[in-house]
Amino acid sequence: MATRKILITGGAGFIGSHVVRRMVNHYPDYHIYNLDNLTYAGNLENLRDVESKPNYTFIKADIVDGEKMQSLFQEHNFDGVIHLAAESHVDRSISNPMEFIMTNIVGTVSLLNAAKANWKNLEGKLFYHVSTDEVYGSLGEEGFFTEETKYDPHSPYSASKASSDHLVRAYHDTYGLPVKISNCSNNYGANHFPEKLIPLAIHNIKNSKPIPVYGKGENVRDWLYVEDHASAIDLIFHKGKVGDTYNIGGFNEWKNIDLIQLLCKIMDKKLGRAEGTSTKLITYVKDRAGHDLRYAIDATKLNKELGWKPSLQFEEGLEKTVDWYLSNEEWLQHVTSGDYQKYYEGQYTKR
Ligand code: NAD
Ligand code: TYD
Repeated sequence: MATRKILITGGAGFIGSHVVRRMVNHYPDYHIYNLDNLTYAGNLENLRDVESKPNYTFIKADIVDGEKMQSLFQEHNFDGVIHLAAESHVDRSISNPMEFIMTNIVGTVSLLNAAKANWKNLEGKLFYHVSTDEVYGSLGEEGFFTEETKYDPHSPYSASKASSDHLVRAYHDTYGLPVKISNCSNNYGANHFPEKLIPLAIHNIKNSKPIPVYGKGENVRDWLYVEDHASAIDLIFHKGKVGDTYNIGGFNEWKNIDLIQLLCKIMDKKLGRAEGTSTKLITYVKDRAGHDLRYAIDATKLNKELGWKPSLQFEEGLEKTVDWYLSNEEWLQHVTSGDYQKYYEGQYTKR
């Protein structure tokens, strides 16, 4: 049987690197092509353990470059795509929406066009688009996002992801492209860039720096361990129904301030500091513009139809995450030098 060639975009990023690692290790009979243009969020250090595997190839390219995508599809004749490449941080989308429009919308369309033009025989072909629960907007105190919830994005990030989801469905409905989409809640775990809440807080606590909490810290996010997201993607890619959407989440809602308190407790213990030391670093800062109050995913469909469940409880996942950051000092140093300092000052100094 011919080797199945899978293109994973954004595989040098946080979630992408976990998906690449899983696919390379679990499917030695596939060839995994990781396409990434290595923005500030892309880091080949995330993939050291797979880079010399015979079934892995890295391609440095920009998904916005339509001609390049066409020629790569022609050259490699990919059978499947798992599309994760994106600009992913809400705060950056507020400062610079155009990059999000280009990568998340135009980039997705250039990949869809390359698949559409090159996939003459659609048998065994699949375009899997990885998306976010933020497309559904914001919940009040109660209720959950289901696959039927109407899209209502608020940030430039979520609006660009919503747009890309619609375009993926449009290519299915209009051109018959075989697609699947998943919308996942907030991820956490190893290799997470320290612009997002959990790794930023870990980094600051480690360095005894203020932990910036937006507004009153009452916003709620639903957290999932990144390897559980990767296992769900694997399952949906192989067993999900073509044309369908799946919500992914662990029924694990936390108010930001409660999550930070728990993280402080774990870090005090790990760092041998007296209990209560790190909570003193909590600093309330100006709220994010258009800050969504609450996200909560109903992942019943994924559980009922495909039998997926998260593997880890939150406290255990957080401990593993803290351990990873404490033992990967060099990784953290590399990603927080240079441009990160400028980003941090721009976002947080005088906020
Ligand atoms: P990330 O920012 O850590 O990584 C994004 C990756 O995409 C980086 O490696 C970057 O270099 C690459 N990239 C960016 N622009 C590119 C371009 N034009 N061409 C090629 N590569 C490009 O993001 P992440 O948190 O790993 O998210 C991955 C995907 O999952 C995104 O589509 C995101 O919307 C989605 N998602 C993220 C979360 C979350 O909690 N982080 C939750 C649900 C869904
Ligand atoms: P984030 O990790 O940026 O993910 P998202 O905005 O995609 O949900 O933020 C998670 C929550 O934490 C969100 O409610 C914003 C809040 N937050 C802070 O309070 N302080 C911070 O420094 C950051 C980055 C986020």
